[in-house]
Amino acid sequence: MSADPSFDPQAIQAAIDAFADMPGALLPILHSIQERVGYIPPAAVTPVAAALNLSRAEVHGVISYYHHFRDRPCGKRMVEICRAEACQARGARQLDAHARQRLGCEFHQTSAEHDVTLEPVYCLGLCATGPAVSIDGQLHSRVTPERFDALLEQNP
Ligand code: FES
Repeated sequence: MSADPSFDPQAIQAAIDAFADMPGALLPILHSIQERVGYIPPAAVTPVAAALNLSRAEVHGVISYYHHFRDRPCGKRMVEICRAEACQARGARQLDAHARQRLGCEFHQTSAEHDVTLEPVYCLGLCATGPAVSIDGQLHSRVTPERFDALLEQNP
């Protein structure tokens, strides 16, 4: 596998070194890599598996199981829209249709025009005040299509 020149491989080793000795180290290491690199590069799978005495398939399985983990770079901004049931009951489907149309991309894609990555999430802990959205890690509740547009305009 060729190295991805867009990240510092030392970031992966630093994440491994920080957590490898603790029980249940895989998830903390993956979170740390994503924080340091912005995503989990495919080149990280082999060293993480080796450090934890796991197979590459086991590590890849965890990365692909959790929606939170990304295996490719994201845009400058990250928009996550809750698609779980409580938010759906409060209008999340209309909101995600609006967001996809507004951004010109589907979930798991990055809008070419806006450099915004759109991801689904399945509960942000704001179930009573949905639809819930996270924009660059900041949570927003009761997000209507109009409010979504206004939030996107802030700090573009
Ligand atoms: S269901 Fe959307 S925040 Fe919980």
